[in-house]
Formats: sequence, C-alpha cells, structure tokens
Amino acid sequence: MMEFIENIDIKSKRVLLRVDFNVTIKDSKIVDDTKIAMSLKTINYLLDNNCSIIILSHLGKVKSEEDKLKNTLYPVYIRLKELLNTNVYFSKKTRGEELENLVRNLKEKEILMVENTRYEDYPNKLESSCDNELSKYWASLADVYINDAFGTSHRKHASTYGVKKYLTSGYGYLINEEKTKLDELLYHSEKPFIVIMGGAKVDDKTLMIKELLTKCDKLILGGGIANTFLYANGNNVGKSLISVDAIQEVKDIIKENNEKIVTPIDFVVLNNDKVLTRNINDINEDDIIYDIGNESILNYENIIKEAKTIFINGTVGLYEDERFKKGTNEILNYLSKSEAKVFVGGGDAVSSVNKLGYKDAFYYKSTGGGATLEYIIKGKLEALED
Ligand code: 3PG
Repeated sequence: MMEFIENIDIKSKRVLLRVDFNVTIKDSKIVDDTKIAMSLKTINYLLDNNCSIIILSHLGKVKSEEDKLKNTLYPVYIRLKELLNTNVYFSKKTRGEELENLVRNLKEKEILMVENTRYEDYPNKLESSCDNELSKYWASLADVYINDAFGTSHRKHASTYGVKKYLTSGYGYLINEEKTKLDELLYHSEKPFIVIMGGAKVDDKTLMIKELLTKCDKLILGGGIANTFLYANGNNVGKSLISVDAIQEVKDIIKENNEKIVTPIDFVVLNNDKVLTRNINDINEDDIIYDIGNESILNYENIIKEAKTIFINGTVGLYEDERFKKGTNEILNYLSKSEAKVFVGGGDAVSSVNKLGYKDAFYYKSTGGGATLEYIIKGKLEALED
C-alpha cells in the first residue's frame, strides 16, 4: 500500500496529482461538481506546501476523434479556476513540447491541468493499457506522484498505476476519507446493518451482494435487481427487466440467505402506456415494473426503523421519471430523518440523492461507482497496491 500524503516529503516539490474529474457535462456545464470539490483538500495541502501541481484526470471514454471533442476537460479547468485562488493553466496536449513548456514555466503554488488522459487511448489504447513509455513520460514531468482519484483507482492505467514505478508515490485526502469511511462500513458498522440495493442489473453486482450478505442483517431490494430475485424465486414479473445470465447465481444466493433478503410486495407498473399499481400476485404478462409500491415502502421503512447503519447502492425505481420516483424519494426522505449512519455508494444512488434534494442529508457519499464496488468485494484497489 502507498504512503499517505502527510508522510511524504512534498515541500516545494513538483507534484503529479491524479484526480477523478470524470463528471457529467451538459452544454459545457458541469452537472455536479462534488468530485472536484472533494479534491480541493489535497490540492490546497499541496499549495500550502509550496508545490507546483500538474493535474491529470480522465473524462469519459475516448475511442474516436469525436470523443476527444466531446470529452475535453476544459469546462472542468474553468470550474477549478473558479474554486482556487491561484494561477491555474491548461494544456490542450497530453504530451509534447506545448505541455513541457507549460511544465517548465510552472512556479510554486501554481497549477497546470492537463487535457483528458484518455486522449492517449485513441488511436492506441496507451493510457488504458498502462503503456510503459507513456507512464515514464508523465512521471518525468514531476518529482512526486500523488493519487487522489478514488473513483478510478480500480483501474490499472498509466496515470493511475504505471507512473508509480518511476516516482515516490502516495495517496491524498479524498482516497484516505473514502477508505476510512468504507472500512468503517465494512468492518466496524453498528448493528443492525441494513443494505438497500437497487439499480437495473444484477450481473455485475452478485459478488458485492454475496460479500455484503456476510456482513449485513437484512438486504432490501428494488429495481431490476429485485425483479431478478423475484423471478428466480418463481414469481411472474411480466415484461420487467431481469438479468437472465445471473438467474442461477441468484437462486443460489437466495437458497443460502433467504431469511436476510427482502423483496418488494407491490409495485408501480407500466402496462401499455398506463401507470398502474399491482400486488406481487397480480402481475400481468404486459406489466413492466418501474417502482416499488406503497406497501413495500411501508415494509421497508419498518425494517429501516431499527437500523443503526445503512448502505444504499442503486435506486429502488426509475426515479428520473416523475411517475416512478415515489419509492426512491420516500425511502430517502425516511432515511434523512433516521438516526442511523447512512452511507451512499455508487453513481446512481449519489445522483438520486443529489437530484431529489438530499445532498447534505447523509453521513457519507462515496465518489466511487465501480471503485466502491471493487473495494467492497476485494478490500483493496489495484492502483493503490505496490
Ligand atoms: C467513475 O466515474 O466511476 C470513475 O471515474 C471511473 O470511470 P471509468 O469507469 O470510465 O473508468
């Protein structure tokens, strides 16, 4: 495991800082700047220590020239400039003379933000394949490497992993906070510990579900995940989304953990453009389940009432659609008044919390999606390992 930033000699050094500024941008505007705001502690610590900082981040995936135009970090640079009281520069290039000149002219307490590291993924996947020459090149720009990109530390890429080989390396405050909070959730949670899990697909979540079932007292389900569990248990779910490939694995999970798993008993469904409420036994062949119903909400609230620790991952309904947001909203509202420590993990859950007005209502919101999932399953992240 790498060293914490406070244990590294960084005074007046040139620091290569990897952050996760992979944010949603619409019409050149950042939809939610949580990830940027949460990186400020490390950036300010480096500035206070008279460092000059070269910032690397990815944004989206880059598989074509159009992706480059779409996924420029320029709007993030503008936001960062607004948040910091120092000179911040931008390099449109991820390598070459222009970048090297900007690096050379960078003074103490100044910042240079480099364009999307995944520009190096087109035409050859150099960043994502952890290309050695690219890793060495980026490392050559600085004296010390600090990783604070928790959300992408499950990726063994040139900017998250490869550069470490060539520089004294450490991790920043955001990663420290994420690890501390997730360790608290996984290893020191006060009981009863309840997990609420939703979202569309179960395929990539079975390992996480198994791991969490060894730790929690109840696993409450919603969304497409609940549909798959209901289907695997012999219920009719009509035309609702299920994860066909995961059915056998889900059956095995149910067999071993039946008393811990709670599924919805009623629903809000769409049936030929009509929004209807249905009991579990009355699901029609044409129904598509999009939210949990009132009885389920009450049942879930009764279980949550007793909890001391809660982890939410995913949403119990299609909350982006007014007609199907009630389940997610009511559960979040109930949780916002609960005394329990509530941890929110995963991109969709965090978006629903921010969008439905609970931005500051909970004990902890993780900036990681895939990274949080992987940390729960493996207890470690690739890029942070030696
Ligand atoms: C995220 O938003 O989950 C991280 O930035 C990782 O992004 P990636 O899945 O494109 O690597």
